Amino acid sequence: MKGVILAGGMGERLFPITRSASKQLLPVYDKPMIFYPLCALMRAGAREVLVIVRPGELERFRTLLDDGSQWGMDIRYATQDAANGIAEAPLIAAPFLDDEPFVLALGDNIFCGDGFDTSLAEAGDAPSKAAILVKQVADAGHYGVVEFDGKGRVVGIIEKPTSPPSDYAVTGMYFYDASAVEIARGLSPSGRGELEITDINNAYLEAGDLSVVVLPDDVSWLDMGTPDGLLEAAQLVSAEQDRIGERIGVPEHIALRNGWIDEAQLEKVAAAYGDNDYGRYLQTLIQGQ
Ligand code: G1P
Repeated sequence: MKGVILAGGMGERLFPITRSASKQLLPVYDKPMIFYPLCALMRAGAREVLVIVRPGELERFRTLLDDGSQWGMDIRYATQDAANGIAEAPLIAAPFLDDEPFVLALGDNIFCGDGFDTSLAEAGDAPSKAAILVKQVADAGHYGVVEFDGKGRVVGIIEKPTSPPSDYAVTGMYFYDASAVEIARGLSPSGRGELEITDINNAYLEAGDLSVVVLPDDVSWLDMGTPDGLLEAAQLVSAEQDRIGERIGVPEHIALRNGWIDEAQLEKVAAAYGDNDYGRYLQTLIQGQ
C-alpha cells in the first residue's frame, strides 16, 4: 500500500509562526508534527510514501526524513505550488501512485490510542473502493461532517457546515483506489478556491463505493492546524506517553514492529542520533525487544 502525506499549505491559521517554516515541521511536544501522520501511514502498512510540501521547503523535509531507507522505507518528495486544496494531492501524486491504491494522510492530523490499528485494518480491508475515518467531536462544523439518514446510513458529507447535520467529523486519513486521480481531475474549485477532498469522498459515496469507519472512544484525533490544536496535541502526546509508558510517533519503533528494519539497523539509527534523549530512547527499544 502506498502512502501520501500532504504537508503543503501556508499554515495561515498559525501565522506568524508559519511565515518562515512549514507547520508540519513544528514541534508537537517532543517530535516534529509530521512524525505523527507518518507513523499513522506506517501503521496502515504504507512503506512507499510521497511527501508533498510547499515550495522552498523540500530540503528541510529531506533533512528530517531523508529517503526513508533508515526506516526500511522509500520516501519521495513533491511540491504543491499553490494552496489549491487537499484534493490536488492525488493529482500531484499521480506519477508516484502509478494506478495503485493509496492512503492519503494530512500532515497536521494526529491519531492515538490502542484501538487505532483495528480501525486502520477495518478501513484498509474494506471491500469498497474508498474508506474514510470519522470521529465524534464537539465542534464538527470546523470539519467535513457526515450526514446520516434515519436508518444510520451515510447520505452525504458537507464541508464545514454552519449547522452540522451530525457530530461526526471526517478525519484527515483517506483510503482510495486509483480512481481518486480521475475523480480529482473532474473537480472544480469550491467557494474558497480549493479542490475539496469532501468532493472526492462524495463522488465515491454517490457511486456506492465509500466505507465509513467510526473511530472508537479510545482513539483520539486532533487537527493540529491552529494554536489551540497545537497545544492540545502536545498535551495529548505527553499524557498518552505517560499513560502507556512508551513514546508515540516514533518511526523507528513502527519500522521495527513492522519488520522493515532489524535491531542492527535500529542500532545504527540510534548511534547516528548520539547520546541525547531521543538517541537513548531508541536504544531502549533495542533492549526492550
Ligand atoms: C480539511 C478537510 C476537512 C477535514 C479536515 C480534517 O479541512 O477539508 O474535510 O475534516 O481537513 O483535519 P481544512 O484543514 O482544510 O480546513
